[in-house]
Amino acid sequence: MKFFLSKPLLLYAIVILCIEIATGIIFSQFMSNYIILVLVLLTEYIILMMIVHYVFDKYVKPIQKATNTLDELVKGNFRARMYHPATGSMAALLMKINSLARSLSELSIHEKMQAEQLSTVIENIQSGLVLIDEKGYIHLVNKKFLSIFGKAERDYVGYLYYDVLENEKIHKTIQQTFLYEENVKHSVSVANETKQYFEVIGAPIFDERNLLKGAVLVLYDITELKKLEAMRKDFVANVSHELKTPITSIRGFSETLLDDDLQDIDTARQFLGIINEESKRLQVLIEDLLTLSKLEKEDSSLSLVPVKVSLLLEEVLPIVRHQAEQSGVELQVEAENDLTITADQNGVKQVIINLLANAINYTPEHGRVTLRVVEEKDKIHLTVQDTGIGIPKEAQTRIFERFYRVDKARSRNTGGTGLGLAIVKHIVELHKGNITVESELGKGTSFHVFFPKL
Ligand SMILES: Nc1ncnc2c1ncn2[C@@H]1O[C@H](COP(=O)(O)OP(=O)(O)OP(=O)(O)O)[C@@H](O)[C@H]1O
Ligand SMILES: [Mg+2]
Repeated sequence: MKFFLSKPLLLYAIVILCIEIATGIIFSQFMSNYIILVLVLLTEYIILMMIVHYVFDKYVKPIQKATNTLDELVKGNFRARMYHPATGSMAALLMKINSLARSLSELSIHEKMQAEQLSTVIENIQSGLVLIDEKGYIHLVNKKFLSIFGKAERDYVGYLYYDVLENEKIHKTIQQTFLYEENVKHSVSVANETKQYFEVIGAPIFDERNLLKGAVLVLYDITELKKLEAMRKDFVANVSHELKTPITSIRGFSETLLDDDLQDIDTARQFLGIINEESKRLQVLIEDLLTLSKLEKEDSSLSLVPVKVSLLLEEVLPIVRHQAEQSGVELQVEAENDLTITADQNGVKQVIINLLANAINYTPEHGRVTLRVVEEKDKIHLTVQDTGIGIPKEAQTRIFERFYRVDKARSRNTGGTGLGLAIVKHIVELHKGNITVESELGKGTSFHVFFPKL
């Protein structure tokens, strides 16, 4: 009944009433029976009202609803739909409005999703990001950027970049990006808890008319790369140093021999002995370096096969037993029977030989070295224990570094290059295992190697 109260319909009813009154006045000129006249007028009124209601419901009301729906859509409420029973072209119009609303709603959802994806990428990207407009105001900084400088978003957004960014190199990058209107790259160091290095890239942003709109600044963390570069430089320096010592000695003694014209046979023999020893050292060093470089090759993969531990020990022990006897060190082996390990045979052999050789080298006469192999859940646990000189606490984390030796002179006397444990660690890690050390100065050392059983 709501339509009877609606304004336009009321207006139509009044207009029809006026027509009725006019018709009544005209009819009353010809009709004397007023009852019939009233009945005729009433019927006419009802018919006219029904026609008006039909027209109103079919055409006016849907247009009103359509206008309201379109208003909602214009306001951005894409969930607005219109429901009205209609037929023919009006039904088609209503359907089109609803499908337009649906498309707009899908479009807005899509846009929202894209915006969310973009902001997720910006927030989670592992590089710092800053967006600056053409006037130099900061519009956006991401999480990574904030974590680099340890401040909050409100300290940057809305400010001029040169007021809030302290690093001179970053200023220079932004200025050059604006000036040259092209990508600019600089590397900067940031001293927070640990010194970090970044490559700062400034990229200009242009609008559709190719006018400069601002710039994006990306801070890419290159600390690891810098570390690797430093390590590589150290390594080259160390290798050169290690090579220099035996070569200097070989050259020195051979020159003396040549100058002396081999007069004194005993001295000549002694010198030749030294030259021989030093050349052996060189050979060992070069072999170790080659082993390391082979292990470090990115595609270096081991050929893992099931190997019987007892067979492995049979091949390894004669090599070290001789060394142990010469050093007066007792060598004990405790291995469970029938143990099998899935590993690279030569790799595991090298691990055991290097660890046992170290244990014997760094254990004084009458000491004891024990090799133990046991099965533990999903691992093979290999222990090399000695009663030797031990390793100071501060050196325990460093002994796996290349060329690191606790006592350089002593290690050199035993022919050590300082590469043995680096090689061991590499091999163990290629097997997805791990190695740990326990040691007490003057009491002894235990190396524990865990190989996954597979
Ligand atoms: N069992 C051990 N007891 C005491 N110190 C050890 C032991 N094993 C290793 N170290 C210390 O760790 C250092 C590094 O060992 P690593 O095996 O890498 O080198 P190296 O024995 O000096 O030379 P090489 O490359 O010939 O093995 C040694 O120089 C030594 O100081
Ligand atoms: Mg060694």
